[in-house]
Amino acid sequence: MIRYAVIGTSPITKAFIAGAEATGKMHLQAIYSRDLQKAKDFSLPYGQDLHLYDDLEAMAKDPTIDAVYIASPNAYHAPQGKLFLTQGKHVLAEKACASNKKELEELLALAKEKNVVFMEAMKTLSMPGYVKMKELLGRLGPIRKYIGNYCQYSSRYDRHKAGERVNTFQRDFSNGSLLDIGIYPLYPALDLFGPPQFIKAQGTLLKEGGVDGSGSLLLHYEGLDVIITHSKISDSHMPSEIQGELGTLLIDRIGSPKVLTLYPRGGEREEYPVETCDADMVYEALEFVATIESARSFSPLYSDTLMLRVHSVLDEARRQMGLIYPADTR
Ligand SMILES: NC(=O)c1ccc[n+]([C@@H]2O[C@H](COP(=O)([O-])OP(=O)(O)OC[C@H]3O[C@@H](n4cnc5c(N)ncnc54)[C@H](OP(=O)(O)O)[C@@H]3O)[C@@H](O)[C@H]2O)c1
Repeated sequence: MIRYAVIGTSPITKAFIAGAEATGKMHLQAIYSRDLQKAKDFSLPYGQDLHLYDDLEAMAKDPTIDAVYIASPNAYHAPQGKLFLTQGKHVLAEKACASNKKELEELLALAKEKNVVFMEAMKTLSMPGYVKMKELLGRLGPIRKYIGNYCQYSSRYDRHKAGERVNTFQRDFSNGSLLDIGIYPLYPALDLFGPPQFIKAQGTLLKEGGVDGSGSLLLHYEGLDVIITHSKISDSHMPSEIQGELGTLLIDRIGSPKVLTLYPRGGEREEYPVETCDADMVYEALEFVATIESARSFSPLYSDTLMLRVHSVLDEARRQMGLIYPADTR
């Protein structure tokens, strides 16, 4: 049983705990909040014997904890990750797991040095819909185009527009559309097609907060183009699409694919609904446990090479957009 702690008390942590419970291999051991009362309130559905902390260093030293799930604002992932890796704990850090590639390199080096796991919680990579998508790619022939689309009006954008300082639109938290949302359609491109020859990125920088509210990326490969669109200030109802010379595959939601539709060229439309657990973070939690059990620092699905490739493109896209985080200058 992997005894794990959580950082962050928002709904995503509850979703992760549900996924971790569903593995049958993880036990919630500790909760950190900046406010101990909040940690107590959050702990209520999960039993009496939990270790509650408002001191992160003390939690990192807790000998009864094997691993930590980090779901704080993006800018905290690297410093918090380092703290736990240094204490020999396995780390699963929400996306984006670091503010930039330099921070990621430090995390990866530390994970190797301490012989523990570091994984970016990009849940898509281990979901059944993504696995099925990879299987169906063989039906498409030479792939010519991938259009990855994730545009979702943020539930916090109205408050941001009203002048409130909300976390998801702050440079000092390393937030913005690209790192929060664009990373979902970007991951499959870099997983399936490798590093691009060059990229072009643009984005709409918001006046208050200064992060990107939306944007797009072009990734160029020999014989293949990738177009990524992402937004936190508008909605899209379009699926994502992979086009090959022999057919086209539609993916309903690139972040958590559940229905895949194949259009073989000249053939009948084929629909593939993919059964997925309601607690859909169970798949990444299982992969995290399997990696810990394998005594390797990185999962083959969530490899260090892939994480670095993704963060290298994120850095270059932000450079082209003129989006610099305070974490970049530390
Ligand atoms: N995988 C997914 O499907 C998914 C979905 C949503 C979000 N995410 C990722 O999960 C992470 C958290 O996102 P979120 O929207 O839940 O973030 P959030 O609400 O802004 O913050 C998450 C937690 O961090 C702590 N926190 C808030 N403000 C803080 C501050 N100023 N300093 C230190 N800690 C602070 C809070 O816990 P306490 O008040 O208890 O300390 C809060 O519950 C992000 O990296 C995001 O990209 C992933």
